[in-house]
Amino acid sequence: MKKNIGSQLALYPTPVTVIGTMNGNNPTWTLVAHVGIIGHEYVLVSLASAHFINGAIKKNQKLSINIVNESILPQADYCGAVSGAKEDKSNLFDYEMGDDGMPVIKKSPLVMECRVADIYNTKGFESFICKISNTYVEEEYLNESGKINYHELKPVLFEFPTYEYLKTGEVIGKCLSFKNNKTV
Ligand SMILES: Cc1cc2nc3c(=O)[nH]c(=O)nc-3n(C[C@H](O)[C@H](O)[C@H](O)COP(=O)(O)O)c2cc1C
Repeated sequence: MKKNIGSQLALYPTPVTVIGTMNGNNPTWTLVAHVGIIGHEYVLVSLASAHFINGAIKKNQKLSINIVNESILPQADYCGAVSGAKEDKSNLFDYEMGDDGMPVIKKSPLVMECRVADIYNTKGFESFICKISNTYVEEEYLNESGKINYHELKPVLFEFPTYEYLKTGEVIGKCLSFKNNKTV
């Protein structure tokens, strides 16, 4: 019998992202690892209500989700340590504007530009349910069939219990390739 360790937030690892939005004429960035997928069109970004970026997201009704790989991890980690309420974080990353007016980190391998569809409130948190408008990817991370190649893109993962960043793991096999060998 497994040990019951009570009600634990244990759905890890999750991808590390930098959420961006515009704060007036400048971007602001916040590190967020509590992200998720809802159906095939929506994604979820869960933010503590007290964060600086929330007000700007609510004003714009838009945000960008910048996937973090090891090349931008130092700056990403920094924007998870400092609040835009205390320090201007607009110069942390070189960025360009997406077609829907959201800041896109140039060195992030993959960025989704999103519109806020709804906000789910729980005590102390606002979870933004967002519809993806545009997806920007460095072409070197597309395979011959035009699909995103996550083996090469190598998103950094996060886990809360030990508060660590993890490397993306190895391939175990193709999905649905095990269905005839249930003993594996
Ligand atoms: C590894 C890591 C993951 C984080 N994930 C989240 C998260 O999922 N949701 C959240 O609200 N804050 C998260 N944070 C905390 C915010 O990034 C941090 O408090 C930030 O300074 C808030 O910035 P802001 O006030 O400018 O919005 C995370 C921090 C770190 C270091």
